[in-house]
Amino acid sequence: MAKVPELAERAGLDPGPALVVTDEHVADLHLGELMEAFGARSWKPRPLVVAPGEASKSMDTYSLVMDWALGVGITRQTPVFALGGGVVGDLAGFAAATLLRGLPLVQIPTTVVAQVDSALGGKTGINHGVGKNLIGAFYPPRLVVSDWGLLRTLFRSEVRAGCAEIIKHGLVADRPLATRLQRDLGSLMGLRDPIAPELLRDAAAVKATIVSGDEREAGRRALLNFGHTFGHAIEKVAGYGRILHGEAVALGMRAALHLSASLKAGSPLAPEADLPAPFAEADALVRDLRIRTTLDGLETPELMVAMQSDKKRAAAGLRFIVLDDIGAGRVADGVPVEMVEAAWAYARRVGAGG
Ligand SMILES: NC(=O)c1ccc[n+]([C@@H]2O[C@H](COP(=O)([O-])OP(=O)(O)OC[C@H]3O[C@@H](n4cnc5c(N)ncnc54)[C@H](O)[C@@H]3O)[C@@H](O)[C@H]2O)c1
Ligand SMILES: [Zn+2]
Repeated sequence: MAKVPELAERAGLDPGPALVVTDEHVADLHLGELMEAFGARSWKPRPLVVAPGEASKSMDTYSLVMDWALGVGITRQTPVFALGGGVVGDLAGFAAATLLRGLPLVQIPTTVVAQVDSALGGKTGINHGVGKNLIGAFYPPRLVVSDWGLLRTLFRSEVRAGCAEIIKHGLVADRPLATRLQRDLGSLMGLRDPIAPELLRDAAAVKATIVSGDEREAGRRALLNFGHTFGHAIEKVAGYGRILHGEAVALGMRAALHLSASLKAGSPLAPEADLPAPFAEADALVRDLRIRTTLDGLETPELMVAMQSDKKRAAAGLRFIVLDDIGAGRVADGVPVEMVEAAWAYARRVGAGG
């Protein structure tokens, strides 16, 4: 983190006034270090600390950021530094995109999710009562500074949930990464050097490669939604904030793997049966996260309805991301409802794995 100002200068930003948006947890743990680093190089950063949690991706908090930024005085050259997880990154990113029609944005991601996913790819935004992430902009950051040491202060549950997204990257697009995770998931979850930083870097590279050339989600970027059509439905029916996003995605990936196997077989696989190769291997990797989320208390018909209202649904029938093999994801359209129901039944039987 000490290198942030210098890296910003190398990215073409001039030392001077800067906005720093963070949340209370991250401010307590890491803001001081960043402010010191700025102080050593004649920057004049002004921090704004928002409440932690998804509730800050709201119109109210967005409006607060606008009032504050316009109140302290900014020019088109004033950079916005987003220090935090995906919530801060999405909120501050959207503020940067819209203030004076765009201020330079620097992402300093402090969660696993943010380092391998949300800080990359340029999606910014806030939530609306109608749904998540419905107001936003594609706005690439000028610079992303990822320091894996910042992750050491995260709750273990947050690290685990972030690792679900890393597994996802391996499963849809990177067989060697998936193989390394089979061996080294424990070291990754324990944030052990040097294995953890290597895996974090390579998982981030998967996302960066997929989104470059597909910034607006027309093609390959959709692969990153593996496990998410199921996962979003779980989050919605459970009630947002009740379980971590990555926990829902882990369970969603197990359902998606069952669905992948059904599609390959050409008929719905029995929920009681073990998955065939290579899906069993992928499923074991997700199970090894030991996330305890289950579908207990969530009814399948409700989950089916929630899934159909997902904003990423295709116009014609149900669209899912499935695997042909480990490392080879694809879009499947018009998936038979019976296969989806069988996948839910499988997820209900096995849970996320903990
Ligand atoms: N823009 C995208 O492409 C994209 C992709 C994936 C997810 N997202 C969004 O990201 C958000 C989830 O992000 P998240 O999982 O990072 O959640 P988050 O930002 O809410 O962070 C999780 C918790 O960890 C705390 N925290 C952050 N860094 C910490 C640290 N280093 N030490 C201790 N505590 C720390 C936060 O205060 C918070 O309580 C969702 O809103 C989701 O929609 C966006
Ligand atoms: Zn996700």
